[in-house]
Amino acid sequence: MTNKSQNIRSVIIGYGGYLPERIVTNEELTTMVDTSHDWIVERTGIHQRHFAADDQVTSDLAVNAAKIALENAGIKAEDLDLIIVGTATPDKTFPSTATRVQEKIGNTTGFAFDVAAVCAGFLVAVSVADQFIQSGQVKNALVIGAEMPSRIIDMNDRRTCVLFGDGAGAWILQGQKSERTPEERGVIDTKIYSDGRFCDILHTDGGPSSTGKVGQIQMEGREVFRHAVEKLADAAENILKKNGLTSADIDWFIPHQANSRIIEAVAKRLAFPQEKIIQTVYKHANTSAASIPLAFYEAVTEGRVKKGDLILHEAIGGGLVWGSALVRF
Ligand code: UT7
Repeated sequence: MTNKSQNIRSVIIGYGGYLPERIVTNEELTTMVDTSHDWIVERTGIHQRHFAADDQVTSDLAVNAAKIALENAGIKAEDLDLIIVGTATPDKTFPSTATRVQEKIGNTTGFAFDVAAVCAGFLVAVSVADQFIQSGQVKNALVIGAEMPSRIIDMNDRRTCVLFGDGAGAWILQGQKSERTPEERGVIDTKIYSDGRFCDILHTDGGPSSTGKVGQIQMEGREVFRHAVEKLADAAENILKKNGLTSADIDWFIPHQANSRIIEAVAKRLAFPQEKIIQTVYKHANTSAASIPLAFYEAVTEGRVKKGDLILHEAIGGGLVWGSALVRF
């Protein structure tokens, strides 16, 4: 295995996103729990979220995003060597949602698995796919973040039920020859961290081997908020420094979309001006692993993010697991 000496870079050749049809406004939530539109907007920036239909499962959302990505990549499902789905809300305990996606899109030649890193799931999946591509084992990888938090929130708990939404986003990464300079397109660097000492500040109160039930989201909001700002800012500073860059070199900051106050606090520490930040949390809410590829898809579709732009991504979620990625689109 020659690894990085092969001079391969993982280039984004396709991207897609999907949001379920049903929009749930803050106003609608006020009919279910003791909350208000103003509280939700002031503390989170969220105005609305999408909830999946009763007959949809996570792999349906994932497949819708994947089909768009395959189409704009101009490749077929059978051209894929690897499918990774980042999700904390799989269709079933097993098999993986990724193998269900593989079945639904009609791929029989690649291999598929899920990564469980909750809100950091897409970043971890990109990092794993990038390693397979750089090793030369994989040419084309479909990387998806797909989530249905609506299925695991307690609709009586105002501290959590107002925060989340459903959705899916996808990238297709292709291994292409590269001198691996910062000017060339592709995944320039990724760095993932975790600290299991914080397992209990964001978790579900159930699971297959503990309660035999799926469980619902429990979160110590203030604690998670504090860790998020600190760890995301540090992760961003580290990856920039390691690659000899500063925030002034970055065209777009596309972070995980959990709370606009977290995004703005991190952006302030990194001195990113508002114009460089892609925010979709106001209309998608926190879609966990789907939030980065969904925000990316929207920003590219709207013509804001263009080929050749240098992007900084970062995310944090239950575990805690967090990380960052530097990508030239
Ligand atoms: O994606 C994974 C990572 N997750 C995150 O990044 C989430 C991180 N945390 C947060 O975003 C924020 O902590 C929240 C948005 C969850 C909460 O905001 P906060 O400013 O930290 O509020 P708090 O939890 O300190 O609650 C303040 C008050 C409390 O009332 P008291 O005890 O001061 O009387 C809560 O009971 O707000 C109350 N409250 C609400 N009031 C109206 C909590 N939820 C609601 C609500 N509507 N939905």
